[in-house]
Amino acid sequence: MQNESLTETQSAFGREVYEGLSAFPKYLSSKYFYDATGDKLFQDIMAMPEYYLTDAEFAIFTEHKSHIAELFIADESPFSLFELGAGDGKKTKILLNELVKKKAAFDYRPIDISQNALDSLSDSIQKEIPDVEVNPIQGTYFDTLKDINAATEKRKVILFLGSNIGNLLHPQAIDFLKNLRDSIHPEDSIFMGFDQKKNPQTILDAYNDAKGITAAFNKNILHRINKELGGNFDVDQFLHWEVYDPESGTAKSYLVSKSAQEVRIESLDLEIRLRPWETIHTEISQKYDDEVVNWLAEQADLKISTSFTDKDALYKNYVLKK
Ligand SMILES: C[S@@+](CC[C@H](N)C(=O)[O-])C[C@H]1O[C@@H](n2cnc3c(N)ncnc32)[C@H](O)[C@@H]1O
Repeated sequence: MQNESLTETQSAFGREVYEGLSAFPKYLSSKYFYDATGDKLFQDIMAMPEYYLTDAEFAIFTEHKSHIAELFIADESPFSLFELGAGDGKKTKILLNELVKKKAAFDYRPIDISQNALDSLSDSIQKEIPDVEVNPIQGTYFDTLKDINAATEKRKVILFLGSNIGNLLHPQAIDFLKNLRDSIHPEDSIFMGFDQKKNPQTILDAYNDAKGITAAFNKNILHRINKELGGNFDVDQFLHWEVYDPESGTAKSYLVSKSAQEVRIESLDLEIRLRPWETIHTEISQKYDDEVVNWLAEQADLKISTSFTDKDALYKNYVLKK
């Protein structure tokens, strides 16, 4: 089952790379940043002082863990704690520890496209919090919603942290929230992180650090195409470029070709040309305020029942209900 899902992920990678690099302007999906190298680079990003998102969400969980755990425990009926795009679970472990402390009846079901991330997460939880039953699911958010839907035997709490929702443009985010809504019952909850609008320079710095860790993360997608699809990208011929539009709240990452290039991707039988300074768009990281989050929730027919923020109001977690 897991192998089938991995094969599906690999062939979707080829299909989407073909589509994105044949289009104009060119694009690639940020969900393909993550293999063992990308997972490690993202951990390095989370440890950077510029990447305030992790510290802010960490601070929210540390301060409000008891209240958040009580919300999850609710009427004390057993529940499954799903997490979409769980990564290394650094912040989630604060909540898992609190739930164990409060003797909650739950199992933890992390979902991630990266099998490497799920393996490391399961191992580390087994070592650090052995009382937690971990049932990992490999796949994309959209594909695994059906697993969430099918898991009707228990109440559900769904975590979507790190402002991962920000990788979706508003229409996609609304579709996604609608799908989530259809996958839950009134007693279930969704707990989501939304990075907030703030000084544009703070946002730019978070995605364009001086040491070039974010640049290496962005370029990892080209290394993956070279390794897994037989590509011959000259990765050094690309610049990492970040822009932030404070009007729309959208940060965008690009790879910019420094020269005229011809690239062949063997397994896709695809040849592409890049003009000097041509772009490949790789990621969006949307920023929000209460008004926009309310609007998204309304569009998806969800209600915000409460929210938590850090002392500088950089970041916010919202609880959404049907
Ligand atoms: C930015 S990291 C955040 C990790 C974690 N949520 C946190 O807050 O630290 C995104 C994680 O989601 C996974 N991911 C990205 N896009 C995904 C998708 N479309 N479906 C499933 N997992 C995805 C990545 O593999 C990675 O582990």
